[in-house]
Amino acid sequence: MLFQDAPIRKKLMAIVLGTSGIVLLLTCASFLAYEVFTFRQAAVQQLSTLGEIIAANSTGVLAFENQEDATDILAALKADHHIVSACLYDRQGRLLARYPSGAPDGSFPASPGADGYHFEAGRLVGFAPVAQVKGHRLGTLYLESDMAALYDRLRLYGAIAALVVAGSSLAAYTLSRRLQHQISRPILALADAAKAVSDRRDYSVRARKFGEDELGLLTEAFNQMLGQIEEQNLALRKAYDDLRLTQQASMQQERLRALGQMASGVAHDINNAISPALLYIESLLGREPNLSARARTELTTIQRAIDDVGQTVSRLRAFYRQREPQLVLAPVDLNQMVDQVVELTRARWGDMARQHGLIVGMNLELEPDLPAIMGMENEIREALTNLIFNSIDAMPQGGAISWRTSLTDRPAPEKSGSRRLACVEISDMGVGMDEETRRRCLEPFFTTKGERGTGLGLAMVYGVVRRHDAEIEIESEHGAGTKIRLLFPLPAVPVRVPPPPEAAPLVPIPRRVLVVDDDPVLLKSLAETLQDDGHEIVSADGGQAAIDAFIAAKAAGRPFAAVITDLGMPHVDGRQVAAAVKAASPGTPVFMLTGWGQGMAAEGDIPPNVDRMLTKPPKLRQLREALASA
Ligand SMILES: Nc1ncnc2c1ncn2[C@@H]1O[C@H](COP(=O)(O)OP(=O)(O)OP(=O)(O)O)[C@@H](O)[C@H]1O
Ligand SMILES: [Mg+2]
Repeated sequence: MLFQDAPIRKKLMAIVLGTSGIVLLLTCASFLAYEVFTFRQAAVQQLSTLGEIIAANSTGVLAFENQEDATDILAALKADHHIVSACLYDRQGRLLARYPSGAPDGSFPASPGADGYHFEAGRLVGFAPVAQVKGHRLGTLYLESDMAALYDRLRLYGAIAALVVAGSSLAAYTLSRRLQHQISRPILALADAAKAVSDRRDYSVRARKFGEDELGLLTEAFNQMLGQIEEQNLALRKAYDDLRLTQQASMQQERLRALGQMASGVAHDINNAISPALLYIESLLGREPNLSARARTELTTIQRAIDDVGQTVSRLRAFYRQREPQLVLAPVDLNQMVDQVVELTRARWGDMARQHGLIVGMNLELEPDLPAIMGMENEIREALTNLIFNSIDAMPQGGAISWRTSLTDRPAPEKSGSRRLACVEISDMGVGMDEETRRRCLEPFFTTKGERGTGLGLAMVYGVVRRHDAEIEIESEHGAGTKIRLLFPLPAVPVRVPPPPEAAPLVPIPRRVLVVDDDPVLLKSLAETLQDDGHEIVSADGGQAAIDAFIAAKAAGRPFAAVITDLGMPHVDGRQVAAAVKAASPGTPVFMLTGWGQGMAAEGDIPPNVDRMLTKPPKLRQLREALASA
């Protein structure tokens, strides 16, 4: 088709101009046809009237066959310059007089024809009877008129019609040019939107709506359709992202789990090994006022070193642990945490850095109205410490570290809308991370620091984040510094951080205590340390021995005030000891000492019959507190 591929604007113009042109032409044509028809009628009428007048005047000249007068009468026809020729025939049909007078015979019919007028070869010709009164025929008048008048008029009308067609076409063109916008604009807008969608796959495009007509409805329906596709697209992308994240998270979990199992086994052995040393030192430092200053310093150093080992072990396990359901979270003030961590690490970023000629600035911008969150202070403190160390490591030339706390909104998972989170943000001006590092930095043992790093720092941070139902956001670019945000959920009901308790010295009340552990060195150290506090200690080196001792003592009327037992022992373990003790004497408190401590709950292994868990290596203060509560 001719117009099939033409733009809609052209099509509309062609339709409007074509239609109006054809209508105009038809109008003009019928007008002209009517004009020709009426003109011919009028011409016949006119010529026959003229014929009648001439015929009436010619009766005399024909009756007497006066040729001269007849020629004079015909000469009057000169007044009508459309009359080409005329003649009078006598009764016998002979040519009597002619007009113009000098015209040759051949210009006239040889004899008169039938009365009446007719058109012939573009001319109007006719014969009229010349009759006396009472119908006596004297001769015939012949008249011939040209049609120049008609052609003149037709030419004029033609010119007018052409002008009208041209003028109205121009008007139609101008008008339709303006009016076709009404139709073409919404269609073009739709076409543009559709093209943008198909070119860029951008479903956020919307076509502009120009009115409430059918095109408006079409635009609206089109936009709605786009909206639905966009929503579905977003949902699809979100589902995909969620799936990817879940997959990543579960892979990470899997790694962490394997590693954690190994770590907790190692932790158990190391804890048992260092516990006696720690207890003896703590006890020595407390009991022996006569220690030399040097001995005291050395003991303190050993104590700190062992503490460090304990911390390393717990750090190893920190990223693996699940949150124990029974573990009570306490209100934590994140601002306070930042303050503490900045103070605790001052040696590293202040003095030590200065010794190496570095200046590390520390800027704090803390939101004063930040609500407290529910969490585990020690874990959060450790996580923030890791972050600060990483930032210091990332700035070998020195620089500034900024801390910021704030209340932030983030889209709520699953539900629509957003949720408020307490945010701690640390940013540095350090070397930043490349894409690969940024993606993998949370993985345990991923480090770019070679021998200097264990790669456990951020994995531990991640473990803490997970246990707090928090989120971690890492923004970093190679060479452009790093920004890490931890976002903690706010408790449904606002909480307050209680003031720190007064650390009143515990004065031990002497009690009779049964201590159980299969590790002889640990058992001995425990017993001796507690004896120094004035307690009467009975040691049992296994579960069965402990149960026997407990029952025997009760029978002898010298029951124990409390039992401290290890968990993991061969044959009869701590759980069985606790059960037996409670069966014999439900009121006697049982304290369980274990390196697994917090890890146990994760394995669904919370021992019943236990009053309090004590972690290994045991702290004298912890033991004293437990016994004081017995
Ligand atoms: N602030 C930071 N700027 C640049 N890179 C960082 C930053 N924090 C972490 N990284 C990168 O992420 C890696 C992993 O960090 P992570 O804290 O887990 O381990 P590490 O610091 O290497 O070792 P560790 O913390 O045990 O001493 C780092 O080796 C480093 O490449
Ligand atoms: Mg680190």
